[in-house]
Amino acid sequence: MQKLLSEAFYLEMKKLEPKYPTRLALLLPALHAAQKETSWLSPVILEEIAKYIGIHPAQVREVASFYTMYNLKPVGKYHLKICTNVACILRGAEHLVKYCEKKWNIQCGETTSDKKFTLMEEECLGACGTAPAMMVNDDYYENLSVEQLEALIERL
Ligand code: FES
Repeated sequence: MQKLLSEAFYLEMKKLEPKYPTRLALLLPALHAAQKETSWLSPVILEEIAKYIGIHPAQVREVASFYTMYNLKPVGKYHLKICTNVACILRGAEHLVKYCEKKWNIQCGETTSDKKFTLMEEECLGACGTAPAMMVNDDYYENLSVEQLEALIERL
């Protein structure tokens, strides 16, 4: 099997190995590092990670599909994750979701046709005190209004 992950990925894993008690414990960092490199975790990438860790690809998929931060299908350049759990809904998160769906004519879970934006709902981003909260890629936006979201999207 030809390796798709870069030399930099394997070097990073080599550096991390001594910090983890077992190879299996490296699974989450490996998924993070792979996703950083490829933006989503395709079945062949999951297989390559399984080979590196020394487990069955189904085990890697089980873990990757449990966490919403791992993308198991391609995402746009900007991946918007809007929290729609109780604190955020009470503070108007559904207006943020509706704004994006209407603007781009897509539903949550979909990507715009130009591959620029992917819209997702999240259960809780851990920013309940500053609801409504949204992540764009790795960045947080809190106390977000529709006007602020609109301005942010224009900047992107
Ligand atoms: S409920 Fe939205 S961040 Fe927790």
